[in-house]
Amino acid sequence: MLTLISAGLKGCSSMLIIPGPASKELAEKVSGLTKLKICKVSHKYFPDGESYFRFEENIEGKEALIVQGTHPPQERNIFQLILLAKGARELGAKKVYALVPYLCYARQDRSFLRGEVVSLSVVKDMLKSSGIEKVVTVNVHSKDYLRKEGFLKDVDAVPTLAKHISRYALKDPLVVSPGKKGEDMSEVAARVVKGEAVAVKSTRDYVTGDVHVDVEGLIVKGRDVIIIDDIISTGGTVARMVSKLKGMGAKRVYVACVHALMVGNAAKKISNSGADEIVATDTIPNQFSVVSVAKNVSEAVLDLKS
Ligand code: R5P
Repeated sequence: MLTLISAGLKGCSSMLIIPGPASKELAEKVSGLTKLKICKVSHKYFPDGESYFRFEENIEGKEALIVQGTHPPQERNIFQLILLAKGARELGAKKVYALVPYLCYARQDRSFLRGEVVSLSVVKDMLKSSGIEKVVTVNVHSKDYLRKEGFLKDVDAVPTLAKHISRYALKDPLVVSPGKKGEDMSEVAARVVKGEAVAVKSTRDYVTGDVHVDVEGLIVKGRDVIIIDDIISTGGTVARMVSKLKGMGAKRVYVACVHALMVGNAAKKISNSGADEIVATDTIPNQFSVVSVAKNVSEAVLDLKS
């Protein structure tokens, strides 16, 4: 890690970090790890809620890395990202990159029902047209979309999340992840916690959005189970999994996710279902974000050579 960071510095020495209002802490951490300087940008809200930014340092001829997550409120956070990107370009930045730890709208990467707007494609076009060359993100929901797009660089935070959980005294651990994407996630995490991996079938109702996850038949009696998912939104998916697994005799059930959106009463729903702990990364800052992705994303940032 250290070798990579110092090697990367050569290519990025003129890069400045622009901390967006949604991800100030992560920006500080990345600056600390990469030794890339933070550019002072003042920000305020006008009385009607519109954002105002002013770059207080000269960024002409420099590379700029805007750090801004696009978690809720998505529209505000993404628009602030666009303002900063466009502003940096207009002030003469040589290149503009973005570190977007949580990329919004990534679940709508295609039309599931006829007539649906493919929101991720709109988001990508907006970011590109604001002058951003490349986006570094973390466990973007849509891997298929990403494969076609050199524009996004995706960092996998699952090993770091799993490393955190591996410090618990786990009994015969079983790592369970929902859906097709769960195959990779559960295997990666199971290797780290030295347990067994299983990806369980999940089906989504495209109208209500509810997800049914099939955990029946898993051997969980007396074992510690770790549920790993990329996103927790309403908490419905994992809450249903936890209560079934507990009902099937699991000893403890830990819930881990990369992006804890935790909409509404998600946390309550999950703890009421019997979960022993909820753990998430700091892609979205909140009470669950105890595992930092700063090191992971710093490597990717330093790889953005000029
Ligand atoms: C689905 O494809 C995602 O990976 C998550 O499983 C889903 O977004 C979770 O949603 P919720 O927390 O609302 O059940």
